[in-house]
Amino acid sequence: MTGWWEGAVGYQIYVRSFADADGDGVGDLPGARERLPYLADLGVDVIWLTPFYPSPQADHGYDVSDYTGVDLVFGSVADVDHLVADAHRLGLRVLIDLVPNHTSDRHPWFADARASRDSDRRDWYVWRDPAPDGGPPNNWVSHFGGPAWTFDEVTGQYYLHLFLPEQPDLNWDHPEVRSAFRRILTFWFDRGVDGFRIDVAHALVKDPGLRDDPWIDGPPADDASPQEVFAALDHVHDLDQPAVLDIYREWRQVARRYDAVLVGEVYLLRPEALTRYVEGRDGLHAAFCFPVLKVDWDGPRIREILQRSVAAGGDRLAWPLSSHDDPRAATRFGGGPTGSRRALAYLALLCALPGVPFIYQGDELGLEDGEVAAGADPIAVRNPGATGRDGARTPIPWAPGPGYGFTTGEPWLGFGANRHDGLTMLAQDADPGSHLNAVRRLLACRRGLTGLHAAATVQWLDTTPGVVAFRRGDVLAACNAGDRSAVVTLPADGELVHATGGDTRVEDRELHLPADVTAYVRLPS
Ligand code: GLC
Repeated sequence: MTGWWEGAVGYQIYVRSFADADGDGVGDLPGARERLPYLADLGVDVIWLTPFYPSPQADHGYDVSDYTGVDLVFGSVADVDHLVADAHRLGLRVLIDLVPNHTSDRHPWFADARASRDSDRRDWYVWRDPAPDGGPPNNWVSHFGGPAWTFDEVTGQYYLHLFLPEQPDLNWDHPEVRSAFRRILTFWFDRGVDGFRIDVAHALVKDPGLRDDPWIDGPPADDASPQEVFAALDHVHDLDQPAVLDIYREWRQVARRYDAVLVGEVYLLRPEALTRYVEGRDGLHAAFCFPVLKVDWDGPRIREILQRSVAAGGDRLAWPLSSHDDPRAATRFGGGPTGSRRALAYLALLCALPGVPFIYQGDELGLEDGEVAAGADPIAVRNPGATGRDGARTPIPWAPGPGYGFTTGEPWLGFGANRHDGLTMLAQDADPGSHLNAVRRLLACRRGLTGLHAAATVQWLDTTPGVVAFRRGDVLAACNAGDRSAVVTLPADGELVHATGGDTRVEDRELHLPADVTAYVRLPS
């Protein structure tokens, strides 16, 4: 991968939980803008802002009712301009979130489409007659539970929604949908944004015949969760259709004029499936690699996933440590101090790979999921008993005191019973041994590893079971995901340049690596 994003580190801002400047309890663009110096100092290069567009907020902004505006709760278009200008002054690039698979049901396009079968924009969405029994046209299910179809009484047809009924899917076979989105890209590029994170980038195009998806092992039990039902289908007809790349080829031409990047949320769990999105010079510049945030703290498994992912996408992958849709890394890896220690070690491992590691806000503080009663995320609201995404979305604790420096008002979502003053950014800033300062040291060290950045290929090393180790350029990176200290034999005398935990040393061509620690050793080139 070449371009300004080569060697970059990304940072995801989930705007509504990041920083609230106006005291209404919801994070906003002016709040994010105030924190830009903190991010520059942390050592990241690119920020990604989650959707701030006008939206009924049925899915917290991923239901857009105007693609070229800003919701009042987040600020104004002028606030985007100010944020982008400040970011650029600080040497940060800005990606914004594009949600092209679906709009809000309140978007004027959908209002027009649903008004009559003869509406100008009827075919901007996917409408079908009921099946002979009156039910939905096929067996596709919504990611958020229930069928992927809702019957519209007014016009007597079903419309498709891979997510909520409030998020009708656009029909990407329609040329006017395509031109509308090219104009949206241009609108934001003209305002100076440096690229887009593309929401559900693997889903825009569907099987033209809308055929049923096959069940992998037969239909699931009646009490299966939405996630289980979703996983029981082999999504060969609703997701990952090769023709989706035609859209990105068009967008790539637009992006090229602005030296901007397109990073897809290609939420597919087989690394090999990512290849076609990023190969060549005319698809996406990069794709998020989600298999890496599904893996447990298990050395052989981590190695397998990383090795397959690098083989599939090379330096065109973005490596999410956590996200607003999944449990945080510290939680996934066991929680408590151990979980945070492992999350730091994992970040260091991802940071040594080709491609762009992405920190999710709060990862730099070693946060676990906030312990809150599930109640805001539509997945939890609509599916009693299902695990929602609220735990990963609780507001950032910036400073001790009420509102944790996030807000002077009532936060839209609780911080979590497991938050305390010691976790706040301010407390950690003052403590050299904190997670925050460890992440700062890691990113500063990574930046200086010129031999690492110069090398695109990775050589995997066979070492002790539990240790994941590879060589890239003149750097050997090793992560001990086993349950005891390990010794890694080095191919040559090397110098320990970074370790995420104490008691790590190099002696007589051996790296002594405690459990849950990643080390970088510089070897003679
Ligand atoms: C993506 C977003 C998620 C959202 C979904 C529907 O997966 O990351 O938060 O709910 O798309 O837009």
